[in-house]
Amino acid sequence: MNSRNPVCRAITLFAVSLSGLSGCGGGDHAAVPVPTAQTAVNPTSQTAAKVPAPPTNVSAAGGTNKTTLSWDAAGGADSYTIYWSRAAGVTTATGTGAGISVSGTSYIHRALAPATTYYYVVTARNGAGESAASPPASAATTATDGATPYASHCAACHGGLATSTVTNRGSDDIEAALQNVGAMNDLSPTAAQIAAISAALSNGN
Ligand code: HEC
Repeated sequence: MNSRNPVCRAITLFAVSLSGLSGCGGGDHAAVPVPTAQTAVNPTSQTAAKVPAPPTNVSAAGGTNKTTLSWDAAGGADSYTIYWSRAAGVTTATGTGAGISVSGTSYIHRALAPATTYYYVVTARNGAGESAASPPASAATTATDGATPYASHCAACHGGLATSTVTNRGSDDIEAALQNVGAMNDLSPTAAQIAAISAALSNGN
């Protein structure tokens, strides 16, 4: 240590480690701890911990007892949560229940009331948290009601409409099943009811 150099003495008093400073001697400074603020900085984990942006281009289309939602993927998102209500102005706080969690960028919301408008916002999530809500989207279901005849004719064996064991079958498929499946031979839905049930079970609008 060059103790006659006043700059070096000041540095020593304040315990600042400046290994590149010439003329002060080096060895004494090895034990000065690295400031903790530097060890806490980790650029890799900071990037991974970023909450995604809200989903964009959220759209909703109405069908028979259902709406079909889609949106553009948000960068870095692991999943999306759909918040819905029959009241306009739905938010993450006022949506029904805890929202519907999905991994993809589309969803068929089934078993809805006929002739009713449903309102939606969607958020994106990852390990760092949940984005703000997307802009709202809404769609009205058609006046046709397949949910009521489904509940009275089909739900006992195939489960509720939202999670039915049969989906995306045309009227002809249902007619064939009514003829060929022994357990279904005693059922007698009308042709209009079969068409409405088929529409409610379909994956399109
Ligand atoms: C009493 C019980 C019962 C009821 C009620 C019933 N089903 Fe079924 N259904 C079955 C059984 C059993 C099968 C044959 C096994 C299977 O495919 O699940 C079947 C098969 C089907 C199939 C063929 C499955 C396939 O893979 O293509 C369709 C379509 C179907 N049912 C639609 C309906 C619809 C629509 C209704 C209401 C109108 C209905 N079922 C009511 C018991 C029932």
